[in-house]
Amino acid sequence: MNNLEQTLSIIKPDAVERNLDTEIKEIFKKKGFLIKKEKKIQIEKIEAEKFYKVHETKPFYNDLCAYLSSGPIVAMVLEKENAVLDNRELMGATDPKDAVEGTIRKKYGISIDKNSVHGSDSLENAKIEIDFFFKD
Ligand code: CDP
Ligand code: MG
Repeated sequence: MNNLEQTLSIIKPDAVERNLDTEIKEIFKKKGFLIKKEKKIQIEKIEAEKFYKVHETKPFYNDLCAYLSSGPIVAMVLEKENAVLDNRELMGATDPKDAVEGTIRKKYGISIDKNSVHGSDSLENAKIEIDFFFKD
């Protein structure tokens, strides 16, 4: 059954700052993800607040939004079968110290806040998040 999906991935400031974006993109490609769209940008804090609105009541919300807007990021539309869940699996657990071997966060993540990548957590959110960065 063809279950082609698109999901939004972000290479976060800690990874872009360490020039890991090319290396991380290669991992996605090797795992069968097609990078359909990508852009390197820096967003304003107010945009980060919109993007992470689902977390607005969390204690880490302010720091999270300050962080996402603190430097350049690479936003990508990734496409493959089961892209949403497969990307979550490839990213690994939110806290790099809980992430399993072979995941991006295990390999590159520094801490729970500087965990190198974002990935949509559902097909519904993927559509919203892709629109957020790539609506033209
Ligand atoms: O990114 P993911 O979907 O795995 O986790 P989330 O629960 O949706 O949280 C969004 C982001 O907030 C995480 O990727 C972390 O960078 C950050 N976060 C944090 O700084 N402290 C926490 N206790 C939980 C999340
Ligand atoms: Mg999330």
